[in-house]
Amino acid sequence: MSEETLSNLLHENRRFEPPADLAANANAKADVYDFADSDPLGFWEQAAERLTWDTKWERVLDWDNAPFAKWYVGGKLNAAYNCVDRHVEAGHGDRVAYHWVGEPEDDTRDITYAELKDMVCQAANALTDLGVKTGDRVAIYMPMIPETVVAMLACARLGAPHTVVFGGFSATALRDRVQDCDARVVITSDGGYRRGAAAALKPAVDEALEQCPDVRTVLVVRRTGQDIAWTEGRDVWWHDVVDGASKDHKPEAFDSEHPLYVMYTSGTTGKPKGILHTTGGYLVGTAWTHWAVFDLKDDDIFWTAADIGWVTGHSYIVYGPLANGTTSVMYEGTPDTPHKGRWWEIIQNNKVTLLYCAPTVIRTFMKWGAEIPAKFDLSTLRIIGSVGEPINPEAYIWYRENIGAGRAPVVDTWWQTETGMTMISPLPGVTAGKPGSAMKALPGVSALVVDDEGNAVKPGSGGYLVLTEPWPAMLRTIWGDDERYIDTYWRRFEGKYFAGDGAKLDEDGDIWLLGRVDDVMNVSGHRLSTTEIESALVSHPTVAEAAVVGANDPDTGQAVNAFVILRESALSEGGEAGEDMIAELRNHVSKEIGPIAKPKSILVVSELPKTRSGKIMRRLLRDIAENRQVGDVTTLADSAVMDRIKEGIAAGKEDE
Ligand code: PRX
Repeated sequence: MSEETLSNLLHENRRFEPPADLAANANAKADVYDFADSDPLGFWEQAAERLTWDTKWERVLDWDNAPFAKWYVGGKLNAAYNCVDRHVEAGHGDRVAYHWVGEPEDDTRDITYAELKDMVCQAANALTDLGVKTGDRVAIYMPMIPETVVAMLACARLGAPHTVVFGGFSATALRDRVQDCDARVVITSDGGYRRGAAAALKPAVDEALEQCPDVRTVLVVRRTGQDIAWTEGRDVWWHDVVDGASKDHKPEAFDSEHPLYVMYTSGTTGKPKGILHTTGGYLVGTAWTHWAVFDLKDDDIFWTAADIGWVTGHSYIVYGPLANGTTSVMYEGTPDTPHKGRWWEIIQNNKVTLLYCAPTVIRTFMKWGAEIPAKFDLSTLRIIGSVGEPINPEAYIWYRENIGAGRAPVVDTWWQTETGMTMISPLPGVTAGKPGSAMKALPGVSALVVDDEGNAVKPGSGGYLVLTEPWPAMLRTIWGDDERYIDTYWRRFEGKYFAGDGAKLDEDGDIWLLGRVDDVMNVSGHRLSTTEIESALVSHPTVAEAAVVGANDPDTGQAVNAFVILRESALSEGGEAGEDMIAELRNHVSKEIGPIAKPKSILVVSELPKTRSGKIMRRLLRDIAENRQVGDVTTLADSAVMDRIKEGIAAGKEDE
């Protein structure tokens, strides 16, 4: 957090009051803060009434064994029943749950709540026949198609926690996750459509499972019809076992704390963390925040333009919206296929009223030009949201002006895989928004900005973001690793959840997020660990050592910049550190982790800046990656190393 950033923020004087009609009719008005402040648990009890409980809870919160929380203790419910059946029972079976839009043009499906219920019941029956029992983990590696939601809800219905692995991840990443949570069943598809072509998924599953001998069944949805390899006895077509299954399935009520899903996310070490979310609290948290932050009304058409493989998709494509009986849009493909106005066309055709997406894509749209969205009718949009990384004031204003017609409030929502639900955000009917600020903790949420000692900072100062009270959708632990859960989140500041983000309080006490303070990068709104990418680089036979830093990038927020030292053997074999070698290393990372982790640049160096204790000083490498004057080098073991690295890079550039 540089002084410069802080002073820039102080110059941001623009304020956007809520539109009068929105304020007058808002779901959440200013008094909600008062109620939640005076009685936080009472507030969360009232929020829990949004759900249908089979057995009511006896106690809202059990925090006796902190940091291991239990919410709605003694309560029982079924997540799939809450997301689907109860809406049908209430007479809303004909309401559309998803306007699904495939990437190929005119490939659309509208799925009503009644149809979704039938599909979920059939899939639950099929999974039961395949031996899936309550408590078993099921891995889901799918494109953005309706069956992905059906698969998740079928698991939830059976109490079998799912772990959805982003379809852009590699076979290796999939393998690690399947192994870590010991999934025995994998649900996938032959492929999906991306950038105008069929992209295969099944081959990655086949490769991953070579090292997962315990997986007995792979359930395969036919989406693209492309050729795939088939393992007899293990692979089963979805249409063979689901389509003919019974549409009757009685949902069992599970304990409020029954595991709902595990979602893997990057941390500061190489091994991804399996974030565990449980049933009751997670559903209450996602349903309430979805309803309040988007001021959800019965006739709204909601679109979270994210992938279901990330937490945003879990909370705000699937669980929150379905628990609220919402009509959502779900889109399979990329924003520029077959043309750069695809999103705006989808909004126009489906009369979308609420849009939720990431700053990185907003910046891409800015680059493509405001004349593209201007060709479409976006007048239905009434609230537009942002998530995943800090939204720069410029992008906020562009979004508000060009997508929101200068009228729709922008809700900048801060949260994490771990928090499960939005934690810091404006309320669109209450808050006068400031471009670039996520504003205040939502009702029922307690956030603070603290200094190194854990003391709250004064308005006008920066520090670390912490959460001081438990919240219903909080992670319960890291799958199989309670110690790591405590160490990562609860050790840094006694009794407080450490989010890993830097933040600043402005003079009004509003919160501005300033990015990660640990070695975790945020690329296009997705977290990647530097260590994980370094390990991937070092796993290549030519690389001896690697250091990875996230450098500011105008498009993706941060970009992966790598510095590598090659092995003597690689160089002596005539292997010049040329373009081919760099391309090979970039592809290697892509294969090991996924294209999202592919370094934007790789610089070959002969040494890396290290402290006397041998720690790589990434801060100095970041200075180079961001073309800055290199900072304080006094703690380096060899203070001349930065000069030699810079000279090496300059010499390399001359050779090109
Ligand atoms: O650094 C923060 C950033 O994204 C991190 C969480 O990443 P992930 O678990 O992948 O979840 C992303 C979607 C919820 C946070 O620690 N982040 C998320 N939202 C914002 C943000 N940074 C600034 N402003 C936001 N609105």
